[in-house]
Amino acid sequence: MENPRTRRIHGRTMISYDSLSKTAAALTEGETDPVALMATLACEIHHADDRFDWTGFYRVTEPGLLRIGPYQGGHGCLVIPFDRGVCGAAARTGETQLVPDVDAFPGHIACASSTRSELVIPVRNAGGEIIAVLDIDSDQPDAFDENDARELAAILAATFGRI
Ligand code: SME
Repeated sequence: MENPRTRRIHGRTMISYDSLSKTAAALTEGETDPVALMATLACEIHHADDRFDWTGFYRVTEPGLLRIGPYQGGHGCLVIPFDRGVCGAAARTGETQLVPDVDAFPGHIACASSTRSELVIPVRNAGGEIIAVLDIDSDQPDAFDENDARELAAILAATFGRI
């Protein structure tokens, strides 16, 4: 049976944000443990779209430092300081980073040489504090758009805005 969280278009799996947000809400209802929430979202998001080759969270574990959290895909760097990489930029500025070409991003950290584009979104708790970033990497250039950024940010806000 077809996965209801995805659509097949021209033989490719494309995310349905409407379905994903409903599934994420149903799966995580009542859960407040951040790692349980991250693990569930990483899994659901990663398998929803062929563009997503690495999907996961880096957590703020001490001031100015990100540590790897739940993810799907090949192994990622364990530690990223706020002053490094796309993830560091998102955590430092509090702004979503939509990077169509990682080679053109100063300080990009190449955990996988196949990565061509990235989307990194800050994750905030109910107090508005940045507790993590969601990092999605694609082996395709220019894989992400503003709609992906907006829809995923809404899912993150709904999920982590309760903790
Ligand atoms: N490319 C990221 C590092 C994380 S991994 O690719 C999984 C960055 O520059 O922040």
